[in-house]
Amino acid sequence: MSQPTIESILQENRVFPPPEEFSREAAIASLEDYQQLYDKAKADPQAFWAELAEKELHWFQKWDTVLDWQPPVAKWFVGGKMNISYNCLDRHLTTWRKNKAALIWEGEPGDSRTLTYAQLHREVCQMANVLKELGVQKGDVVGIYMPMIPEAAIAMLACARIGAAHSVVFGGFSSEALRDRLNDAEAKLVITADGGYRKDKAVPLKEQVDLAIANNHAPSVKNVLVVQRTGQKVHMEPGRDHWWHDLKLNASADCPAEPMDSEDLLFILYTSGSTGKPKGVVHTTAGYNLYTHMTTKWTFDLKDTDVYWCTADVGWITGHSYIVYGPLSNGATTLMYEGAPRPSNPGCFWDVIEKYGVTIFYTAPTAIRAFIKMGEHLPKARNLSSLRLLGTVGEPINPEAWMWYHKIIGNERCPIVDTWWQTETGGFMLTPLPGATPTKPGSATFPFPGILAEVVDLDGNPAADNEGGYLVIKHPWPSMMRTVYGDDERFRRTYWEHIAPKDGQYFYFAGDGARRDEEGYFWVMGRVDDVISVAGHRLGTMEIESALVSHPAVAEAAVVGKPDELKGEEVFAFVTLEGDYEESEALEKELKQHVVNEIGAIARPGEIRFTDAMPKTRSGKIMRRLLRNLAAGQEIAGDTSTLEDRTVLDKLRGGA
Ligand code: WTA
Repeated sequence: MSQPTIESILQENRVFPPPEEFSREAAIASLEDYQQLYDKAKADPQAFWAELAEKELHWFQKWDTVLDWQPPVAKWFVGGKMNISYNCLDRHLTTWRKNKAALIWEGEPGDSRTLTYAQLHREVCQMANVLKELGVQKGDVVGIYMPMIPEAAIAMLACARIGAAHSVVFGGFSSEALRDRLNDAEAKLVITADGGYRKDKAVPLKEQVDLAIANNHAPSVKNVLVVQRTGQKVHMEPGRDHWWHDLKLNASADCPAEPMDSEDLLFILYTSGSTGKPKGVVHTTAGYNLYTHMTTKWTFDLKDTDVYWCTADVGWITGHSYIVYGPLSNGATTLMYEGAPRPSNPGCFWDVIEKYGVTIFYTAPTAIRAFIKMGEHLPKARNLSSLRLLGTVGEPINPEAWMWYHKIIGNERCPIVDTWWQTETGGFMLTPLPGATPTKPGSATFPFPGILAEVVDLDGNPAADNEGGYLVIKHPWPSMMRTVYGDDERFRRTYWEHIAPKDGQYFYFAGDGARRDEEGYFWVMGRVDDVISVAGHRLGTMEIESALVSHPAVAEAAVVGKPDELKGEEVFAFVTLEGDYEESEALEKELKQHVVNEIGAIARPGEIRFTDAMPKTRSGKIMRRLLRNLAAGQEIAGDTSTLEDRTVLDKLRGGA
């Protein structure tokens, strides 16, 4: 038998019980408490959620029906009326929290702002009124393309306040990608900024919006609201483009929150899948509010004294649920940082923690691996003693990174919550509760109360302990995605048919493989579809292939993820050229830049390998498994008997 690696020893054997002093103060303070909650929720999920909805949220009108489940379509709190912006702002104004810091913001160049709940409310109301003046109505969609500044959160809350749905597009996406998303959502207006600071540069954003909507390429967009951040010169189209600071001058701060139906559209957020163009994931009002509220409250064991910092960008679901809505609904202090660690200040994250006394820090494994590489002297030179809880999200965390996080950042005192979830799930599905759950490095542990998760085979049968399978959810939950925007059929096909419904039991499956160990701990093993994760960013290989093929030189492209120590995976592209073109370094560079233009810098291929032909099956399907092996520099694993032309492989290897 071979020796177990360090990694497997850590995975299998180490267990970290919640520190006693943490549990003593925690709302859910023991594994028994968790188990009780879990059992109660499982026995009657509707009663469980209804009780919390009543206790934790403000309603203009109570619901008639907790759950209307016509698989795969769920409606929660039917007949109820509420507004998430009211729950995030107004209701705190009648309490002592009125003057509590709602949002602490630190800009990359070192400027900063703090908005109390009263101040944030005022700004949101003003922007809501400006949106109305610009013709935005309940039911319209507003695009948001912003740097990490308070106005990004203000814009989201302003939309929610008047019943307009937002569709936030990550500021790192290119104008082409922005255009596709604005068109798919038929956005009426775009909120953006002149630019934002990232890694010591002023990154232009308004310019990208101009490119996206130029020549009537996004005909639904009638107005652009521009926040001034960097002061860089931008073109302002008369009649279409408006400065926020101008319109704000005369904007009233009185804007009552619109009572919304529980199931009214709250936002669309585009995400990558294994096929086709990015999908508009639809989230609605009440269920999303309740679930992000409860997961924030219990998973972070939130206290009124916490200073909570999630390092995600508002362009991703993590920013939506756990920078903006979850924390503010709880009346917490949420911190937002504009920048990223950069050569001029690689320790900037630790500076922020020290400066503001951050107590809860939530980041991604890819960031942790980068911190490790930058060196422990950086965090060690700062006082991080305010921290009491750490979290991770986005990809499986390797036990080494977990241990480093635990030791160097958490000083062996802070529990780590490894949260598994997706854009589609709206909130945490698998996660430790920090005062209750003994953690194992690399495991997202157990389902959140109310979530029925299981590992199954293709027929929906539960996998045996430690046997790999598909990670599925077996009962609807309040913040589940409702549909793919404009494409109910795709919603059904993508998420509910991979594992066929059986005896009325539906299985939600969104692409991850997992195993469950003999103690019931879930170990997420990563995507089993053609979605890759580059520095925690979710990308569909097919989108990148389409981008490559749209270049005149490219006849065919196949993209796979290549394992990368820092980023988790890197984009690796195999390309065959059109007859007239010859491979060259210049062309490789050009193709990489082409992908950046089509999608954004996050999708830039790390490597492009030119080949005369792709390895294909006799039916013409590209054998990606082989390409993955080749990209990783591994021996070809498994059966190659279905390969049509075996010499292709030798040629591909020869190019290695
Ligand atoms: C992966 C991000 C392992 C997973 C919130 C999922 C994780 C995809 C974890 C969703 C985790 C997220 N452990 N894998 N703790 N968290 N993932 O939609 O593959 O950007 O399907 O949502 O990230 O990515 P998305």
